[in-house]
Amino acid sequence: MEPTTLILFGATGDLAKRKIYPALYNLFADQKLPPSFSLIGLGRREHSDASFQAHVEQSLRQFSRREIRDSASLQSFLTMFRYCILDAGRKEDYAKLLQMVEEREQALRIQPNRLFYLSVGPEFFEKIAAHIQESGLGSANGWKRLVIEKPFGHDLQTARDLNRKLSQAFTEREIFRIDHYLGKPIVQKLEELHQTDPLLRELWSSRRVANVQITASETVGVEERAGYYDQAGAIRDMFQNHMLQLLMMVASHFPADLPRGDGRSKKRSVMEALRPLVKQNTGAAVIRGQYQAGEIQNTPVIGYTAEPGIDSASRNDTFVAAKLLIDDDYWRDVPFYIRTGKRMREKSTRIVVEFKDAKTKSGSRAPNLLVFEIGPDEAITLQFQSKDSSQLEAFDPIRIDAPVSPGNVPEAYENLIDDALHGDPTFFAHWDEVELSWKWVQPVLEAFEENLVPLHLYAAGTYGPAESDRLLAEDGFHWWFDIKPNQPSEQKEGEQSYAYHTNY
Ligand SMILES: NC(=O)c1ccc[n+]([C@@H]2O[C@H](COP(=O)([O-])OP(=O)(O)OC[C@H]3O[C@@H](n4cnc5c(N)ncnc54)[C@H](OP(=O)(O)O)[C@@H]3O)[C@@H](O)[C@H]2O)c1
Repeated sequence: MEPTTLILFGATGDLAKRKIYPALYNLFADQKLPPSFSLIGLGRREHSDASFQAHVEQSLRQFSRREIRDSASLQSFLTMFRYCILDAGRKEDYAKLLQMVEEREQALRIQPNRLFYLSVGPEFFEKIAAHIQESGLGSANGWKRLVIEKPFGHDLQTARDLNRKLSQAFTEREIFRIDHYLGKPIVQKLEELHQTDPLLRELWSSRRVANVQITASETVGVEERAGYYDQAGAIRDMFQNHMLQLLMMVASHFPADLPRGDGRSKKRSVMEALRPLVKQNTGAAVIRGQYQAGEIQNTPVIGYTAEPGIDSASRNDTFVAAKLLIDDDYWRDVPFYIRTGKRMREKSTRIVVEFKDAKTKSGSRAPNLLVFEIGPDEAITLQFQSKDSSQLEAFDPIRIDAPVSPGNVPEAYENLIDDALHGDPTFFAHWDEVELSWKWVQPVLEAFEENLVPLHLYAAGTYGPAESDRLLAEDGFHWWFDIKPNQPSEQKEGEQSYAYHTNY
């Protein structure tokens, strides 16, 4: 791997602390960092190099999946870190940064390969990209890349505006848009399975598949993100990016001889074939919900509009369910149901593929299922319904794939940062995918705005409003694996009060 300088905007922030430093440390421990690597952390807060390194060390001790045992190795990791005070809007700070970057490159005798990572609010994206260009930071004689966090725009127009601005400083090949769902091992496996498993390819079409269900449910509420979330809602926060990326990954046909990176054109084809919604008819395919007070794991919780920082009259969506149709030769007439919400019964991210052609003697439905558990558990199982449907859903799951040692699987950010260091865009969102996603979502945003879609309230600790069940029942289906109201549910590991936690 080529020598690299990682220039991290937002180095004092929460995401860097929880995800980026632990990911870098684990890459280092796995000997996956470039032999000559250096990181320059940026923020407005005061730090010396030593206090910044202490901050990084503390984050590793708190959040790394690997315990820190070897202090010599920890020290050699930390010595790669430097800090520079920078205010994103101050031109002169970029000149100072350029000087520091050049000094580091000269001291290490490395080429100026620079990875700019924007772990800051979206209001800074355009400004920082422009300053990188104007200051000369982006015009050295090595490669440059931009890693950018979500949100990528607030709607179709703002996303296009942002992309146009970024394109003045970086080409599409240089932009790595993080959707960390694409860094998850089971999601990455979808492409690999397709390419290596002829049986799966054979099953993957309307001939065999009755419907596909994609769920991402969280038990947390808005936590400390009220200001942002009340403007975004589930539709922008989860649906437009993560959920549609999962749809693209599950619906794409990746041929066995597909060159690495070309899967993105397959994903784009799925989005191009997605049947568009008409604003006035959105309510027939999209369910909008908001949580009321209820109970999560036997603990009472308040409703959305009573949350601190949320307008008591807010009609923001904390739950969205939708039925999508893909008008191509593979998927015509197969419904893809997607739902995502906060304060739901359990924390779970899962894709269920329900197969056709499983009639019992009595003629009742007894479908087989292929289940991709993405989080918090990770596994791929094929589930054959073993009993007659009179005895209700009794499954014999056959594990197709699961991590050998679950505690030792690289986190999404490790995979993604590793790919960005290698310049491999496979698991990053291409602009075409982002634009097509916003295009599909835009009529929904407008229909919500104009109240053309009813807002259904649901009790916290449930699976969302009853209308979400009705969406499937109209087609003769139901959501799989929902725990019945009086059935106990386990607290899963990793369940913590972090507003972004389902996202991980
Ligand atoms: N992929 C995801 O699902 C996901 C998850 C989490 C976060 N995010 C995104 O990642 C970004 C960072 O999130 P976070 O949780 O780390 O936020 P955060 O804790 O609020 O941190 C924000 C960072 O931005 C820096 N900053 C703020 N104003 C600045 C300015 N004028 N000039 C320079 N630096 C400035 C802060 O440093 P100082 O205070 O020292 O200036 C801090 O390091 C956000 O855009 C968020 O939406 C995405």
